[in-house]
Amino acid sequence: MSDRPVVWMPRRLSAATIARAKRDYDLILNEADTPGSAEDIIAMSANVDAMMPCHSEHFSADVVAKLDPRLKIVANHSVGVDHCDLDALRGRGIVVTNTPDVLSDATAEIAMLLMLGAARLAVTGDRLVRTGAWDSWSPSFMVGKQVTGARLGIIGMGRVGRAFAEKARGFGMNVHYYNRKPLRPEYEMGATYHDTVESVLEVSDFLSLHCPSTPETQDLMNADRFALLPDGAVMVNTARGALVDEDALIAAISSGKLAAAGLDCFKVEPGGNPALSTHENIFMLPHIGSATRATRDAMGFRALDNLDAFFGGKTPQDAL
Ligand code: DGY
Repeated sequence: MSDRPVVWMPRRLSAATIARAKRDYDLILNEADTPGSAEDIIAMSANVDAMMPCHSEHFSADVVAKLDPRLKIVANHSVGVDHCDLDALRGRGIVVTNTPDVLSDATAEIAMLLMLGAARLAVTGDRLVRTGAWDSWSPSFMVGKQVTGARLGIIGMGRVGRAFAEKARGFGMNVHYYNRKPLRPEYEMGATYHDTVESVLEVSDFLSLHCPSTPETQDLMNADRFALLPDGAVMVNTARGALVDEDALIAAISSGKLAAAGLDCFKVEPGGNPALSTHENIFMLPHIGSATRATRDAMGFRALDNLDAFFGGKTPQDAL
């Protein structure tokens, strides 16, 4: 029998990640690539030293309480860790890591796609051409909202928020941001700091959410906050569905307060919200912010780097 650590990979990560994991560990891979249930996680904890889950595996306090003491580390293949009860895991002495940095550009690219696609009514345009329903043109046909010169409000100026700000500057946008603390000038790069969410909303012709999902940020965008946006604003969410009250979003879209929205995440995933789908000015994607080949490899390698450090007796660089 091998004396290498045993690692459970509940989802099929990139081929390069699987190859490296097999080289260095005794890997148990869920070839079926189905989300790991609470029962799977609990049962597997008796057989493995480490797990490499995605945001589809939920480590709630109830699950964590039933984990076998053999499990020593949860090396997440995600930057967001709202699927993990960190206090409960720490309370059991289980190390938890995530994969920051490596997905910032891919996620910022999707935010840009959603912002432009929402602002220029991509869903309607695609439908018209695709279905053969495009039968006229006029100067007033499909007139959208221009990003160049517009004010962009960013809530959460961490790695992804900063990557998005950098790309938005290339489009000539004036960046405003809310963050718990102002950034150093070399990170701020001329962006205007707001010390409240309300203040940044008031200047957000375009708004992009980049903060983590925590108890404090649940329904961050509610009816009162949508009302503070300039009329005809566009909102983008590539962070977590929990940040947006979807009923309030639909009300803001229906009233015209919001001209459009771009969403990569939803309260219910997978699946989304059928009530959003009736509005063609909501451009939606199925949680694929980090889904590029390069980024999937980088996320897998970062999670493995954390495992390597842990089993090499060091503190992983991304220990939370
Ligand atoms: C993340 O890393 O948090 C992305 O949402 C994918 O899980």
